[in-house]
Amino acid sequence: MAHSGWFTQRFLIGGLSVISVLTLASCQVSQTELNMPPLSQADPMVIPAGFPKPAIPTNNPVTPAKVELGRQLFYEVQLSRDNSKSCASCHSEAASFSDAGNTVSMGVFNQRGSRNAPALVNLAYDTTFFWDGRASTLEDQAVLPILNPVELSSDSISVVAKLSSNTFYKALFGQAFGDEQITMQRIGMALASFERTMISGSSDYDRFMAGDSSALSKSALHGMQLFNSKQVNCVGCHSGVNFTDNNYHSTGLAQFYEDQGRQDVTRNPQDNGKFRTPSLRNVGLTAPYMHDGSFATLDTVLGHYREGGKHNQTQDQLIQRLNISDQDVKDIIAFLNSLTDKNFTQRKEFSKPANQ
Ligand code: HEC
Ligand code: HEC
Repeated sequence: MAHSGWFTQRFLIGGLSVISVLTLASCQVSQTELNMPPLSQADPMVIPAGFPKPAIPTNNPVTPAKVELGRQLFYEVQLSRDNSKSCASCHSEAASFSDAGNTVSMGVFNQRGSRNAPALVNLAYDTTFFWDGRASTLEDQAVLPILNPVELSSDSISVVAKLSSNTFYKALFGQAFGDEQITMQRIGMALASFERTMISGSSDYDRFMAGDSSALSKSALHGMQLFNSKQVNCVGCHSGVNFTDNNYHSTGLAQFYEDQGRQDVTRNPQDNGKFRTPSLRNVGLTAPYMHDGSFATLDTVLGHYREGGKHNQTQDQLIQRLNISDQDVKDIIAFLNSLTDKNFTQRKEFSKPANQ
């Protein structure tokens, strides 16, 4: 075993230099522009200044080889039954890895899903996944869309067989895990590692937080004050570095929910219509909004909060009719738009690999 560890390391270093040369050569956005520390060969997790260190599971450390494999898999159509779709079909980089413009997502064979695909951003900081929180690790989450009959609709045997017949993937799994064996568990680990590197921290808001007082317009600044105020209190739920409390709430979207949300997981009627607080990072790029994609614009989302929701049984106390002006609404939207991070949505390290 000791021997194989040494071998793995040598092999990794050999593979690594190829990966990092590719990554650096194709990198167009400079690191200073990104307001981020330089990419290091040893650690592909680029943590923006002022961000806490995310918790990485000790049994799945983020390594460059795993991240590169995860990126390949994220764009790999062979993960779908008919080789037509990949994760990226519903999670597109330009839209912060949400399904821009689609109310709900379309899977293989033109099947219609029932929920809006959320942005994938700063997931390394989140502790629950999916609108109802039914996955508690990214590793667990990642294999579910592959098997979901209305998403990629495949099965473990075909996926493992397809990838195992490919010398390219065998080599990548070898570099990532020390031997060439391909399993669903390893696919999940690699996808999770890639997703953990998808960190956004260079929006105008981040520049402002880092001390550049001119980074936010007057309107956005006032919007931020309202967002954080006791009166409006968006921060009561959209809190922390990823603007989520990782908890579930009914915002009173409907009087009766078609989709039971968190209740499907807990079987507790108190959880009816509760959904996971979504991150608001890049929210300006991820329309339509809410778990069902029922709001086309940020204006309509704000209209909903201003009205105080539709008052169902489980609606959160924090959702109350807001006594704010039209200008206040514009200012809050200006603040939400200041969370847009174009460096994130253009980063070559996250884009479709050249070979695919
Ligand atoms: C057919 C469209 C589709 C495909 C393909 C797809 N997803 Fe998703 N994804 C969704 C939808 C819709 C949701 C929300 C589902 C829910 O909450 O029940 C989602 C949720 C997620 C989440 C949870 C995010 C959060 O904040 O809770 C992650 C992570 C994710 N997908 C990653 C992936 C990965 C990795 C793949 C490829 C293996 C993939 N998705 C393939 C549509 C898709
Ligand atoms: C009680 C907790 C709570 C409060 C307070 C709250 N939100 Fe939300 N927010 C949520 C939840 C939960 C959702 C998802 C609801 C759903 O899909 O049914 C959401 C969704 C959103 C979305 C849609 C994001 C997306 O990707 O679909 C936006 C934008 C938003 N909130 C902004 C705000 C603003 C602005 C405020 C303050 C006016 C606010 N929220 C107050 C919990 C809250």
